Amino acid sequence: MDGGTDGRRITLYGKDDFAGVRAAGRLAAETLDMITEHVKPGVTTGHLDKLCHEYIVDHDSTPAPLNYRGYPKSVCISINHVVCHGIPGERRLIEGDILNIDVTVILDGWFGDSSRMYVAGQPGTRARVLMDVTYESLMRGIAAIKPGRTLGDVGHAIQSYVESQRFSVVRDFCGHGIGRRFHEAPNVLHFGRPGEGAVLRPGMFFTVEPMVNAGRPEVKVLDDGWTAVTRDRSLSAQFEHMVGVTEDGCEIFTMSPAGYTKPPYV
Ligand code: MF3
Ligand code: CO
Ligand code: CO
Repeated sequence: MDGGTDGRRITLYGKDDFAGVRAAGRLAAETLDMITEHVKPGVTTGHLDKLCHEYIVDHDSTPAPLNYRGYPKSVCISINHVVCHGIPGERRLIEGDILNIDVTVILDGWFGDSSRMYVAGQPGTRARVLMDVTYESLMRGIAAIKPGRTLGDVGHAIQSYVESQRFSVVRDFCGHGIGRRFHEAPNVLHFGRPGEGAVLRPGMFFTVEPMVNAGRPEVKVLDDGWTAVTRDRSLSAQFEHMVGVTEDGCEIFTMSPAGYTKPPYV
């Protein structure tokens, strides 16, 4: 069996490849750092997209989403009950909105992909708890990454924690291999059973990007073909890191140089 990779081989990147993808991951993280102070009530998501686009281009890089399978903007911005792939536009942020901004850059042929949650003003209590649980689930998943362990171990670490907090894990979207391409093997499911799925090996590069709903896990995609929302209109949150498996664990390529992890960023 192929360990849940749909028959696709998982690329094992070499020692020298870590430097390339590390630079791309850092630029994605720096873009997320840059946008932080601009997220406030009254600003449009289109303006945030424009600021990210200009920052990425100014750093000799390309925003990977732009024109990717027809996607029309440079980043994804997903507000409140939007799960992922929200398209920036005229929507103005209002007090208490929670939003995910997802940045993917291409730098010297390497992809760097990361996302974080932000708040316009102050979040409600449930929104704050949802973001905290989602961030903690990401870090628990990453803590399970080690040669010899499996993707099922990673998914299980995320799912068991999220469900213990009475939230739900989205099944319809997953993390992915990344490196010289935007999306490659393996699919990184955010649920699973210990010991199942592909065995982790040094040199594997992939994202972990759990989407967690306050209510039921089901999602639907709107008529624009991109925007995924919770079917029950409950709040949803997501954080994403890109990692490389090392000899004794993993390296996170998208840590914030500013030290920003989860809201509040002060
Ligand atoms: N950055 C997203 C991910 O984490 C993918 C966005 S694809 C787009 O995989 F086309 F919507 F931008
Ligand atoms: Co991703
Ligand atoms: Co992403």
